[in-house]
Amino acid sequence: MNVITDLQQWREIRKSLKGSVGFVPTMGNLHEGHTSLCARARKENDIVIASIFVNPTQFNQAADFEQYQRTLGADCALLKKIGIDYVFSPSPNAIYPDSYEVQVSETRLSQELEGEFRPGHFTGMLTVVLKLLNLTQPHRAYFGEKDFQQLMLVKKMIEALFLPVEIIACETVRAKNGTALSSRNTRLNTLQLEKAALLSELLVSDCSDDAVKKQLEQQGFKVEYVATKWGRRLAAVWLDKVRLIDNVPMTERNIKNVASS
Ligand code: PAF
Repeated sequence: MNVITDLQQWREIRKSLKGSVGFVPTMGNLHEGHTSLCARARKENDIVIASIFVNPTQFNQAADFEQYQRTLGADCALLKKIGIDYVFSPSPNAIYPDSYEVQVSETRLSQELEGEFRPGHFTGMLTVVLKLLNLTQPHRAYFGEKDFQQLMLVKKMIEALFLPVEIIACETVRAKNGTALSSRNTRLNTLQLEKAALLSELLVSDCSDDAVKKQLEQQGFKVEYVATKWGRRLAAVWLDKVRLIDNVPMTERNIKNVASS
């Protein structure tokens, strides 16, 4: 496995690649959610590239960006085990030669839910995803359903800008207690990890969104939103200083009950 940090070197390598290319964009601090995307990409493509780039422009709080764990050594060891061919890990200066003066923004979907609570997040995310797709030129790119609104926005950008890449959506990977895996979970202690399971439990319950919100608040979560749309129930909550998001597909059972409650 080759780890490439230099943009020029990367461009030369990309020119030389033959066959189908799968791409998994990440910000590192990898867990099984990421490795499952990589394993699927490995099965479906001749060459697999994973990027590790902690994108400063998509963090709407400086502290969150600073606290984001950088674990390049451990990440590369995991990726090597899965048989990833290239890890592309450029510097912020290489990715933003324009000092982020050129941006990709979406004006409707990006304003809802996550967009309301994380202003600027989706513009930073779409901008970096477009740059990474241009640099890696994959046939397929793999995104998790855990960040469902991100996935929808990436698909929308691909269509709107006629990008020649297939977006492969992959199911959320969960811990045994049902909690969606997230790099932020490493900031939770054992008790908090147990408590976090309530979020996914309530999302799949047949309680209304309001009732889910109330129960979470009673248990000490600070709730930003619980909403049913796009065929899913989505939520964002704070557990002390850690922000958690999750979403589940609406089954017939809970759609019926949400609608009638
Ligand atoms: O989902 C993520 O980890 C990031 O938003 C992504 C897609 C790697 C862009 O920085």
